[in-house]
Amino acid sequence: MNVHLVGAGPGDPSLLTVRAAALIASADVIIVDRLVDHRVRALARADALVIDVGKHPRDGGPTTTQETINALLIEHGRRADCVVRLKGGDPFVFGRGGEELLALRAAGIDVEVVPGVSSAFAVPALAGVPVTHRGLSTSVTVISGHDVGDGSDFELAGRSRATIVILMGVEHRADIAAALKRGGRSPATPVLAIEWGSTERERRVKTTLGELGATLLHAPAVMVVGEVAGLDL
Ligand SMILES: C[S@@+](CC[C@H](N)C(=O)[O-])C[C@H]1O[C@@H](n2cnc3c(N)ncnc32)[C@H](O)[C@@H]1O
Repeated sequence: MNVHLVGAGPGDPSLLTVRAAALIASADVIIVDRLVDHRVRALARADALVIDVGKHPRDGGPTTTQETINALLIEHGRRADCVVRLKGGDPFVFGRGGEELLALRAAGIDVEVVPGVSSAFAVPALAGVPVTHRGLSTSVTVISGHDVGDGSDFELAGRSRATIVILMGVEHRADIAAALKRGGRSPATPVLAIEWGSTERERRVKTTLGELGATLLHAPAVMVVGEVAGLDL
């Protein structure tokens, strides 16, 4: 097994799994995403080849296509003894980890998957918000904020009583709030947004569904919608 698809957690290196930390420290090649914290990158060997494949689709910076990333993984997977593909949070939560695994397998390369601590649950938890809580919420839905059109998952989630955790939703937050309200959620529903959770840049903003569209927020952020977002444990 020489390619390892590794979750880097939300930022703080103490939230890496033991397996992830060991692999990062021993890898010959690390192919790393933009959101992976500098303190995690610093755990790499001084002589490791670190390739940044960050995608910057909205801020105008350099973008590496998924095809290029897959090709790099295959190229290095054939040559190096230990290749770590390092992705923020968990590689299988909105991380395109499944696509990379399939591309590597199709090329005949074995892959180990090392799950990571996902921002979807860890970032709210660090802010004192349990995504489920007895008496307030018995289910949780995690949704990507990219697709907010008619009939999107937001309207469905709006009809439920689940806590809603939104990733990649800052840009479309006004449309997301509108869809959740169309589904039946009250404008008074508490919302907590956490930017850059577990990093030096962490910022927490409490608002409501009615105010979300007008609330100043910056990506990356996790937004939690539901009664639990009003807790501060
Ligand atoms: C492409 S998704 C990857 C999610 C990742 N695989 C995970 O499990 O956390 C990127 C989005 O995750 C969220 N995110 C990741 N790390 C974060 C952090 N430290 N603080 C806040 N949001 C974060 C943001 O919504 C960001 O736009």
